[in-house]
Amino acid sequence: MTATVEEHFEATVAADQRIEPRDWLPDAYRKTMIRQIAQHAHSEIIGMQPEGNWITRAPSLRRKAILLAKVQDEAGHGLYLYSAAETLGADRTELTELLISRRQKYSSIFNYPTLTFADVGVIGWLVDGAAICNQVPLCRSSYGPYARAMIRICKEESFHQRQGYELLMTMMRGTPEQQAMVQEATNRFWWPSLMMFGPPDGDSPNTAQSMAWKIKRHTNDDLRQRFVDMSVPQAEALGVTLPDPLLAWNEDRGHYDFGPIDWSELKRVIAGDGPCNAERVERRRRAHEDGAWVREAASVHAAKESER
Ligand code: 3HC
Repeated sequence: MTATVEEHFEATVAADQRIEPRDWLPDAYRKTMIRQIAQHAHSEIIGMQPEGNWITRAPSLRRKAILLAKVQDEAGHGLYLYSAAETLGADRTELTELLISRRQKYSSIFNYPTLTFADVGVIGWLVDGAAICNQVPLCRSSYGPYARAMIRICKEESFHQRQGYELLMTMMRGTPEQQAMVQEATNRFWWPSLMMFGPPDGDSPNTAQSMAWKIKRHTNDDLRQRFVDMSVPQAEALGVTLPDPLLAWNEDRGHYDFGPIDWSELKRVIAGDGPCNAERVERRRRAHEDGAWVREAASVHAAKESER
């Protein structure tokens, strides 16, 4: 007897195989995949702004070239992910409208300001480091186009993390003022980086289903813990102090214990009340409007080509 499409879907997920665009899939799976992929794409595109803020003020040609390459990579990650969302029937223009009208989210971390050039290093070290912790398991996500996008993105993400850490190592070998800048940037970005992994598992409405469908391979808290365990030795090697007096190795757990996270801050920033939310969305809206003529020209050209 041939399996029903539902049975085929369940068996594919259970066997750790990939669901492809041509396969039947439940509407709820499609909906949550579009939700996660679109918001991931929005995060990459908005994420260009904080660091882009420093391209014209990089302290050397080398730092400017590296930063330019990184910001361009983020744009590419966003376009890659919008393409993955389109394989599920989403429309890229609609997704952009949802972002600009704040009906879809992007990562809270990008609503914080970048006040000194040390922030560029700390974003590479902590934010891209957190992204790596979160994105490597997504290379095994059950939806094929998303998992394959992640494989390419993770390779570039490790360059992003290394360049940030190398920048900070250089500054930590510099003047006391440069060392103080690195510590101050670390103080500002540590807790918001932990919030990137989402609310605690008990307050995560999507995790259970996303784990059942193998969209997510680990829970928010598991990945957060993995990130803390990875970052503490890196901070020690760098010579900075992470701003958490409760951070301590727990031999019994085999992990670092860390202090309580202010979840009200994450809720506030997700709700739009972070330091830079309005500026980030307004800038995205303006860029979309300024680029309208390019999209129009491209579609007229495409129409002429198809007539030819
Ligand atoms: N910022 C904004 N929204 C957040 C958030 C955060 N840090 N954490 C959770 N949320 C939202 C979720 O989107 C969800 O809202 P929704 O239902 O309207 O989408 C709600 O809060 C509840 O959270 P859940 O844990 O239930 O939601 P998820 O199961 O989707 O988990 C996630 C959230 C861990 C971010 C997951 O969606 C995920 O892993 N996404 C893919 C990775 C990603 O988007 N990373 C963002 C950063 S991109 C980046 O760092 C690029 C790098 O180059 C710098």
